[in-house]
Amino acid sequence: MTTENAQRLVIRRASWEADGVMSLELVSADGGDLPGWEPGAHLDIVVPSGLVRQYSLCGDTADRSRYRIAVLREPESRGGSAEIHDTALIGRTIEVRGPRNHFPLEPAVAYVFVAGGIGITPLLPMVAAAERAGVAYQVVYGGRSLASMAFRDELPVGAHVRLIAEDTGGRPDLATVVKESPEGAVVYACGPNGMLDALAEACERVGRELRLERFGSDGEGAAEAATGASFEVELRRTGAVVRVGESDRMLDRILETCPDLMTSCEEGFCGTCETTVLEGIPEHHDTILNEKERATGKTMMVCVGRSKSSRLVLDL
Ligand code: FES
Repeated sequence: MTTENAQRLVIRRASWEADGVMSLELVSADGGDLPGWEPGAHLDIVVPSGLVRQYSLCGDTADRSRYRIAVLREPESRGGSAEIHDTALIGRTIEVRGPRNHFPLEPAVAYVFVAGGIGITPLLPMVAAAERAGVAYQVVYGGRSLASMAFRDELPVGAHVRLIAEDTGGRPDLATVVKESPEGAVVYACGPNGMLDALAEACERVGRELRLERFGSDGEGAAEAATGASFEVELRRTGAVVRVGESDRMLDRILETCPDLMTSCEEGFCGTCETTVLEGIPEHHDTILNEKERATGKTMMVCVGRSKSSRLVLDL
């Protein structure tokens, strides 16, 4: 089962951070230190109804006594955010997996941090880390209105930090931001897919490296993962072997044997179902792993992945 790093944490405090954005502070039940984390890390939170949702850690990496996450109430969501907003959670114990990090801050000569709305959350600890390390950086943080932009008061003040509210200042000119960034700067971004796609184009045009975290699927992956040659999957820990047919979804076959496997998006963008590959060659269809991680083939997102080899052995 993919329950590694599972822990039960207590929600100690909830605070309003902006219109529709609530932060939660989580602590261990016994008051002890929590596992450490690095900027870009997130938690998988199992909300009371059993849904699993991912939230970036946006507190202080040096503070092991608590985690902070922020939740935007999304009317279009599939239930997780509304449930967190509407349930009296303070004092409740919830199941949490992680921290895990698919969006690590790598060393660079300079950074450009671009946030759209609640996308500020993974970037906030990155800004603090760049500040501590004395690395040059700039922040471009866009939102619908100033009132909707959480944590803006926690960002450093200066010309290198720009808050752009759409209702008064329009949308950030990301093409110019990227074009004018210093040679060798790496762009880190989190926000809506439209913003990230525009940024990807701008970065490609001037050869800037871009690392991004998406809120949702980019529309690729899941459909592509639906079919392919059939193969066998051995679930080493349970001892079962399942056959995945040409038009089967591997996840469905696995869930028949491992019904407790944690999943969330089932579209290859959240990382909840990440599973260790023990043998065989995975065929990746997720939007999380980078080229290097894919090449090593050590883990895969089993919700959309398949197998290039006739047999895949998973640590399940
Ligand atoms: S469940 Fe989200 S990546 Fe698999």
